[in-house]
Amino acid sequence: MIKDELIQLITERRARVGVVGLGYVGLPLAVEFAGSGFAAIGFEVDQSKADRINAGESYIGDIESPTVKKLTESKQLQATTDFNHLRDCDAIVICVPTPLRKTKEPDISYIMAAAEEIKQRLRRGQLIILESTTYPGTTDEVLLPMFEETGSKLDEDFLLAFSPERVDPGNPQFQTHNIPKVVGGVTPDSTAAAAHLYSQIVNDVHAVSSARVAEAAKLLENTFRAVNIGMANEMARLCYALNIDTWEVIRAAATKPFGFMPFYPGPGIGGHCIPLDPHYLAWKMRTLNYKTRFIELAGELNAEMPEFWVGKVVDTLNDQGKAVRRSRVLLVGVAYKKNIDDIRESPALDVIRLLHLRGAEVSYHDPHVPVLKEDNIGLSSVPLTAEMLRQADCVIIVTDHAAIDYKLISRNARAVVDTRHVLPRAGPRP
Ligand SMILES: NC(=O)c1ccc[n+]([C@@H]2O[C@H](COP(=O)([O-])OP(=O)(O)OC[C@H]3O[C@@H](n4cnc5c(N)ncnc54)[C@H](O)[C@@H]3O)[C@@H](O)[C@H]2O)c1
Repeated sequence: MIKDELIQLITERRARVGVVGLGYVGLPLAVEFAGSGFAAIGFEVDQSKADRINAGESYIGDIESPTVKKLTESKQLQATTDFNHLRDCDAIVICVPTPLRKTKEPDISYIMAAAEEIKQRLRRGQLIILESTTYPGTTDEVLLPMFEETGSKLDEDFLLAFSPERVDPGNPQFQTHNIPKVVGGVTPDSTAAAAHLYSQIVNDVHAVSSARVAEAAKLLENTFRAVNIGMANEMARLCYALNIDTWEVIRAAATKPFGFMPFYPGPGIGGHCIPLDPHYLAWKMRTLNYKTRFIELAGELNAEMPEFWVGKVVDTLNDQGKAVRRSRVLLVGVAYKKNIDDIRESPALDVIRLLHLRGAEVSYHDPHVPVLKEDNIGLSSVPLTAEMLRQADCVIIVTDHAAIDYKLISRNARAVVDTRHVLPRAGPRP
């Protein structure tokens, strides 16, 4: 039974763990395995990332370079672009990106590429776990047949499971070890081995009956957030029309000790998860002739927020008797959420594009993002000084980083649009 062999290897810390993709998810995971006494090997397609890890340098905010240095010096952690070392691994965890195509269809090409590397070197006794967020069925409909093409048999030769990643970059309270881990194997043996592996590094492992359940659980989590943020954003617009303070409304509702969980409006949604993952579920359901109405509606409401906020900038400039064209607009915070450097899908990018379209002269300040290069945007962060603030016709606060001096903004900016707070308009209530 390869399950028992693997469990023994894991218990004795003799199992070698491979992590494919050393990004926001994979690097912390590899560090956690290495720090818990496993020999961990990270596989990358990006040579510079592998080099930096081997030189003891972290490029992920939540992981400190000295931690990486200590683990690489003791050879507990290594990074490589040579996929032949996959053969040396007893457990292989796939943490590669799962973006959307422009058509909002899942792009699982990174998963396929990683799985192809594993397939070419699959050997008896390996446990393969997919962590990348994806639609229900990817593990058993796509990966299983691929691995079986080699002639290897599930449970007899290899094990296969899905375990969604829940990392929350920039959140010091919850890190890999204290975020409960859901694990679903394609077979009970796969579940048992994968759950045993994670229980070595995570306090709380929750096993479910199949890989599909684990895949769907992740999509429920992220759809829940997308839908509730969508509702909070709609509430903000609705309160604005009613001329009342959304935040006061939410704070009041949140005093209810049961049956309510506060969600807050903002500039829109960003990152590699909330704007994308629900569409993986929507796509899968379309193939089954089911239309996911909540997902579409939340997507629309959240995607409209940058336009709403640019409308507020337009109103603010109008109040000063200025046109948007040639006005100087300074964005504060461009990362998709506070205290991190990730700009993927950030609503700030849409705010910049919409302002550019209207002819505004846009600059930004973000202590975490020194340079912003995306599609046709190429800007560098400007220092947040009293002079810079006074020069701007309007300042729009997009991301609420702790390192930003808000007092300096309120003392010096001529006009501020603050996406963290939809204030009621002055004047009579409707
Ligand atoms: N970032 C998050 O907060 C978060 C949270 C939960 C789940 N996830 C999910 O985790 C997965 C990974 O996300 P991420 O944010 O870590 O992405 P990322 O872009 O930060 O990292 C992915 C890494 O994989 C590498 N890579 C790409 N193809 C490869 C291949 N064939 N072989 C080896 N390496 C390869 C890339 O070079 C990159 O370093 C996604 O499915 C995402 O939805 C992310």
